[in-house]
Amino acid sequence: MIVDERLTTYINSLGSSNTEILDIIEKEALQSFVPIIRKEMQSFLKLLLQMKRPKRILEVGTAVGFSTILMAEYDPVKCDITTIENYEKRIPIAKENFKRAKKEEQITLLEGDATEILKQLDGKFDMIFMDAAKGQYINFLPDVLRLLDKDGVLISDNVLQDGDIIESHFMIDRRNRTIYKRMRSYLYELTHNEKLVTSVMPIGDGITVTTFKT
Ligand SMILES: C[S@@+](CC[C@H](N)C(=O)[O-])C[C@H]1O[C@@H](n2cnc3c(N)ncnc32)[C@H](O)[C@@H]1O
Repeated sequence: MIVDERLTTYINSLGSSNTEILDIIEKEALQSFVPIIRKEMQSFLKLLLQMKRPKRILEVGTAVGFSTILMAEYDPVKCDITTIENYEKRIPIAKENFKRAKKEEQITLLEGDATEILKQLDGKFDMIFMDAAKGQYINFLPDVLRLLDKDGVLISDNVLQDGDIIESHFMIDRRNRTIYKRMRSYLYELTHNEKLVTSVMPIGDGITVTTFKT
């Protein structure tokens, strides 16, 4: 946890509630240890959706569809969402959840590895939500930027790795060093690429919000 736990609990207690179906899917996901966006991220996404009113959204990392449905519910315009997931066990659950939420017409679930699927996509998205394997973000980035509309916004979740990102690489467990190095490269690229403007924020496990410079 990168933000004081009591502070997070307090902030979350101020947050607005979700629709009933989202509460049910959130509970089921947490009970079965499926990782889904935290309350802080939920509030932040709702704010961005109100501000941006995206018509086409791309999500990388569906899990069981919680954040996908949240975006469909809280975008003030009726948007189309394309979401990508490669974990076979989660795909049927996500599809069923889209039906339960009556959002299946708005959502296209692409099954397979985002590394391959992103390359095949075209058109432009005005919001892209990156929430998949952290070590892959840097590899996804060229395609994600190609797919992002010139006024679009890219949101990436879980970028601060429970605070490990600020440690020397000698302090990082050997198993996590590759992810650590790749995430550092990703954050460096987002913040130093001359075409981009990025804010890194300590929300949840750390997020970035990126847009093109105009
Ligand atoms: C943190 S979960 C997504 C949570 C979801 N966005 C939510 O908040 O409801 C990340 C998901 O990304 C999927 N994933 C990881 N790497 C992927 C890849 N290369 N291609 C497609 N899906 C991937 C995982 O299987 C996992 O279900």
